[in-house]
Amino acid sequence: MKYSRPKGVFDSFPEASWKSSDNFNWLTAHLRKLAQSFGFHEIITPIFEKTELFIRTSGESSDIVSKEMFTFEDKGGRMMTLRPEGTAPAMRAYIENQLEQNKKAQKLFYFGPFFRYDRPQAGRYRQFHQFGAEVIGVKDPLQDVEIIHLLMESYRTIGLKNLSVNLNCLGTQSARHAYTQALKDYLGQYLPELSEDSQLRFENNPLRILDSKDPKDKEILKTGPKILDFLEDESAKNFNYIIDQLKAVGIISTVDPNLVRGLDYYNETVFEIITTDLGAQSTLGGGGRYDSLLKSLEGPDLPAVGFGTGIERILLTLEAQQSLPVLPPDLFLYFIPLDDHAKHASYQLATALRQHNIPADLYLRGRKLQKALQFANELGAKYVVVIGETELQQQTIKIKEMSTGAEQSVPLHSLISTIHNLWRTHV
Ligand code: HAM
Repeated sequence: MKYSRPKGVFDSFPEASWKSSDNFNWLTAHLRKLAQSFGFHEIITPIFEKTELFIRTSGESSDIVSKEMFTFEDKGGRMMTLRPEGTAPAMRAYIENQLEQNKKAQKLFYFGPFFRYDRPQAGRYRQFHQFGAEVIGVKDPLQDVEIIHLLMESYRTIGLKNLSVNLNCLGTQSARHAYTQALKDYLGQYLPELSEDSQLRFENNPLRILDSKDPKDKEILKTGPKILDFLEDESAKNFNYIIDQLKAVGIISTVDPNLVRGLDYYNETVFEIITTDLGAQSTLGGGGRYDSLLKSLEGPDLPAVGFGTGIERILLTLEAQQSLPVLPPDLFLYFIPLDDHAKHASYQLATALRQHNIPADLYLRGRKLQKALQFANELGAKYVVVIGETELQQQTIKIKEMSTGAEQSVPLHSLISTIHNLWRTHV
């Protein structure tokens, strides 16, 4: 086909698959309510920002900035980037709109499309969607616990199973500095044996070598220095507190001293939630603290912590665990008019129901009753009303329940109130 979609993106429409628009809507509605119950408010930011914002925050040497950004020059010669992640835009908006004055903007969540140019595969797309949450202005480690708790509740309450929570503490800037030096001293002895990627990182971002999937790198790292041995007392105390408090709400975590995550802005706590049911793209969500990001963007000196999780990966994992929801059909009443008079009456009746938020629709694709009934069936209509000359003459209507075939006759003038009653028992 000439006009096919670009590589690495997909269309979402009503269908029986994980990526249906119905599943997306169900999931985001659920997560929105959950975030609100934790006291978060929604922020919506543009899907493109000045390129500089991401270079400054994710870091020049991060995979995102060095390989994955969709960057373009606008007609005014300015460099713009389709947002690859949500933290930097949310913080840019926080600073620009002086949101430290706005009490509702201290706990923010967001949904939306994000863009990364990477080799597409199951669970990895060039346009994907994230649910993210950020808390600004709280240093208390119980805030880290709440962020991880919200993320885990997001998964638990929709029925995801078999998840592991990996945690690490990157400490303060000075602890990280000392550790980076020790790591370089250690890895320096093995430099020629390291993978090509790690050799590059050795100079520009040695901590990222900890992320390496290369078996030889992993082997070398096993006996290398560990960040946890470099933590200051306060960091170590908070880290243990977080692990304990997570346990208190039923979240068992595993400490992974090699977890650094791919973005430069983190300090202290970092975490990732992993599933074994998703193949290579096994990270469902992740995040951490980023206490100096706001300041580095010339904003207020406020600490912050947050997470991002992929909507597609959640839905794919639900599918792999055979836990995708069976969503109830959303069409309650379907009118099948058999002539022009009936068409007019049906439209009036559907309008009356729609005004009460009762999902109603009518068949306008011809006059073949069998075809119309089949159409209603495939739409998943709960009830069907056929209106023809006889019904209008006798002013009596039959309401047919599609699943059972049961019919009840009602006078036309009481159709709306009868449907109302049925709707009330339905919802
Ligand atoms: P991230 O780990 O880069 O973190 O992305 C978060 C999640 O987005 C991943 O765990 C994954 O589920 C999903 N994701 C990332 N890339 C793709 C892709 N190409 N296709 C499908 N899903 C993808 C962040 O973005 C940080 N902003 C999270 C954060 C918020 N940290 C603090 N606050």
